[in-house]
Amino acid sequence: MGAPPTTSASFHDMWRDLAPIGRNTTTNGYRRYAWTDADADCRTWFKEQAQNRGLTYDVDRNGNQWAWLGDPEAGNAVVTGSHLDSVPDGGAFDGPLGIVSSFAALDELRARGAHPTKPLAIVNFGDEEGARFGLACVGSRLTSGQLSVAQAHALRDADGLSLPQAMERAGYDPEAIGPDPERLARIGAFVELHIEQGRALADTNDPVGVASAIWPHGRWRFDFHGEANHAGTTRIEDRRDPMLTYANTVLAARKKAKLAGALATFGKVSVEPNGVNAIASLVRGWLDSRAADEETLAAVVGEIERAAVERGQRDGVDVRITRESFTPVVEFAHDLRDQLSGLLGGVPILPTGAGHDAGILSASVPTAMLFVRNPTGVSHSPAETAAEDDCLAGVAALAEVLEGLACH
Ligand code: GLV
Ligand code: MN
Ligand code: MN
Repeated sequence: MGAPPTTSASFHDMWRDLAPIGRNTTTNGYRRYAWTDADADCRTWFKEQAQNRGLTYDVDRNGNQWAWLGDPEAGNAVVTGSHLDSVPDGGAFDGPLGIVSSFAALDELRARGAHPTKPLAIVNFGDEEGARFGLACVGSRLTSGQLSVAQAHALRDADGLSLPQAMERAGYDPEAIGPDPERLARIGAFVELHIEQGRALADTNDPVGVASAIWPHGRWRFDFHGEANHAGTTRIEDRRDPMLTYANTVLAARKKAKLAGALATFGKVSVEPNGVNAIASLVRGWLDSRAADEETLAAVVGEIERAAVERGQRDGVDVRITRESFTPVVEFAHDLRDQLSGLLGGVPILPTGAGHDAGILSASVPTAMLFVRNPTGVSHSPAETAAEDDCLAGVAALAEVLEGLACH
């Protein structure tokens, strides 16, 4: 199942061309946030890849990009793809590996002389990471109706710019956004290839695996309101310091999650007024929490919330909590999953704690995922990596899957 040199060369060339876009030269991390210049450059790259291959290119009402081999209207399409945006200082692979592998797999099918009997499409979903507007998978959520137009209009970035304003500045029509059931109805199966964001495949020594499920996960904003005052003159007993409540909540989150076998992370925080010699008036922390099942997740988050409120009462700090997003557990379609595993000769089947557009789409269309080995398991970091041989094994696996699904 090795990839011929043409596929290897095409993968290599695409990777090289995409690599500099949106990379910060100090951190070496990627800053490809939705509807920014770096995102626009990624989108130009995608469009060129489609056009270079003579594929039919279109952009849907939510700004997701599509490249079609065959008639987009014919129905029962086999679609693959992922995303090109990144988290703050993200790695090169989370998202782009799926897109580059999709084009390379198509090249591989053509090199083999395969004749698809169904339309094949490659999609780049917009704003998967939610780095700019706080909500992940905006493109696929809008398309599948899991994010309403009103909710999308209310999204704001750190500068107060709304999602429609950002889309408009990037040259897209924000009036058009909304559910797209007609487009979804044309899809027979969606397969997303992604770098593994853990070490399961490294442990089993397999280059490629198939996803079984995505853990339920969500984001909660904790606002700790205290009282600004002088750091040098305010007696300890007179303070209403929200930083103290925040710090205790971070510790409680770690403890509650560990006890429950779940995950809880405060990875983003903002402080007002943010002065060295002033007690803060407001600390805002965002909790990302995930667990194998929804009951455990609800229990863990409930305990963290209670711990924050109780500690706030002791500190004279008012705690307000807002759930900003929630994604239920995803169990990928068993038929498709088993079909993929069969086509690949029985590769490992594994769950993940990471969210994906494939998880969002799974509520509307049969969906599956392929994972490519990540030797360190590190992701959402510039240190994220995969060996080129494993990437090519991923391309070969995706080509096998696309051929199995679209050519028979
Ligand atoms: C997306 O990568 C997520 O799991 O947050
Ligand atoms: Mn990610
Ligand atoms: Mn991703």
